[in-house]
Amino acid sequence: MNQAVKRSWWKEGIVYQIYPRSFQDSDGNGIGDIRGIINRLDYIKSLGVDIIWLNPVYESPNDDNGYDISDYRSIMSDLGTMEDFDELLEGMHRRGLKLVMDLVVNHSSDEHRWFQESKSSRDNPYRDHYHWWPAEKGTPPKRWSYFDVESNAWKYDATTDAYYLHYFSIKQPDLNWENPKLRQEVYDLMRFWFEKGVDGFRMDVISFISKDTSFPRLPDDAVPDDFISMYANGPNLHKYLNEMNREVLSNYDVMTVGEAPGVTLENALDLVSEDRGELNMFFHFDLMTLDRAPGEVFKMNPNGWSLKEFKRIFSEWDAVFARKGWGSVFLNNHDFPRTVSRWGNDSPEHWRNAATMLQTFLLTMRGTPYFYFGDEIGMTNIRFDRIEQYKDINTINMYKKIATEGGDLDEFLLDQKDAGRDNARTPMQWDETDNAGFTKGDPWIEVNSNYKKGVSVVAQENDPYSVLNYFRRVTAVRKAHVGLVYGSYELLNVNNENVYAFLRSHDKERYLVLLSFSTQNEALTIPGHLNYNRIEKLISNDLIKDDETYKEFLLRPYQAIVYKLS
Ligand code: NOJ
Repeated sequence: MNQAVKRSWWKEGIVYQIYPRSFQDSDGNGIGDIRGIINRLDYIKSLGVDIIWLNPVYESPNDDNGYDISDYRSIMSDLGTMEDFDELLEGMHRRGLKLVMDLVVNHSSDEHRWFQESKSSRDNPYRDHYHWWPAEKGTPPKRWSYFDVESNAWKYDATTDAYYLHYFSIKQPDLNWENPKLRQEVYDLMRFWFEKGVDGFRMDVISFISKDTSFPRLPDDAVPDDFISMYANGPNLHKYLNEMNREVLSNYDVMTVGEAPGVTLENALDLVSEDRGELNMFFHFDLMTLDRAPGEVFKMNPNGWSLKEFKRIFSEWDAVFARKGWGSVFLNNHDFPRTVSRWGNDSPEHWRNAATMLQTFLLTMRGTPYFYFGDEIGMTNIRFDRIEQYKDINTINMYKKIATEGGDLDEFLLDQKDAGRDNARTPMQWDETDNAGFTKGDPWIEVNSNYKKGVSVVAQENDPYSVLNYFRRVTAVRKAHVGLVYGSYELLNVNNENVYAFLRSHDKERYLVLLSFSTQNEALTIPGHLNYNRIEKLISNDLIKDDETYKEFLLRPYQAIVYKLS
């Protein structure tokens, strides 16, 4: 192992992300809740994961499913009570699981007390908790908004004759980090949760918190994708994260992972290099935009994506963290379509191998692997047909915008079948009873009907060959081989368009990972410079010949094999 890399629990842990609204309802109101998660802790533990990242559970009017927080210190009533939360944390810790919460402090809800005060008068003490542009200065310089029906990030408010800034919906006003009082409020609320014993934070769009408050004019021809780099890495980002680390994070043994659109290979280490004292890890967006149309954030590229580019992205990012800092590896989350539908293949013929191959990939890469609930049973995109089926403010407001502008709504709906965030938000498929055992009431969003066709925990639990049981085996393989966590990474067969092959090396141990992204059988020759006498299979999702000495491989469609070389 690279001696410079210090071992730690958040490097060796496997993360399992839970979108609470969609995981398990316990009281029949159709919305997943904290007690539902408590009831499933033994299941979660059985997967071999270590860290749970919980999407926001704080009080919220739910304009954006909890990413619009109206009280950072209380639990959303739909999801339960603070007593439930305490019991969840205790139940997790008792099982050796860690809990990472979502910290959403680029913006709050407009129903937060701070904003209510802030908007009430220009001289209110909370005025500067947010960004205001007085109307007498004229129309504010254009800023693009993710969820606004007019894509306009400034909203006029007559009470004080001023515009407030909202990068996301009009109900998500951006907090003003340039104000030291606001920063102290944030540090206080972080301490509140750390004192309860939570083990870390995933930080929502943390790369956007610092703004140039002179709000310069941006190029008139900027497209949505351009705004990401214009919003990210503001002038005081590192100053604030460093301060946060000094004042709060450094006092606890906790993990931090920033959601960091706009952070690049070039400036990555500024955020996570140990000597900087900022964050532990972050999520970059290079993979998440690989299949998007040029200049767009939410629209699919009709030309698809190529495995060579996919490999390039993972290889370049691995190299950045080879000596300093630490990476996160992930294929989806609650903002993107389902893993197997997006990067694999969800046809009946290939679904099982594709889902397990992608699991194998994340668990054999360097960096902390993140899984999204349902990945372990191979949940797929629901592909809604009608706008009425969608619940996501992003899809709904884009639809309204296109309708107003007279655009092509059918084309939009077709695109959303692959791009829509709600694909990832349909309920967990537990069993084959009504609503997949998610709720006894009416689910807040439709359940994917394939819960009756093998995509459920119950259908897979006793099948040794299932996606679920493969997941348990492959998490165990990672746990048993620390070299898969810390070992160096070398990409092999760089130009192969259908197979991703790489080598992990750690002290004297070497692991060869072969992953087919193809619907055909693929023959592969491992480059000559790789010398080995013996090859031992650690795991595969399909049949292979065991224990031979060879360099020629024949992979079945979407086959994954991990060998130990000696
Ligand atoms: C990123 C979150 O992951 C997403 O779900 C949310 O809509 C935006 N940030 C705004 O908070």
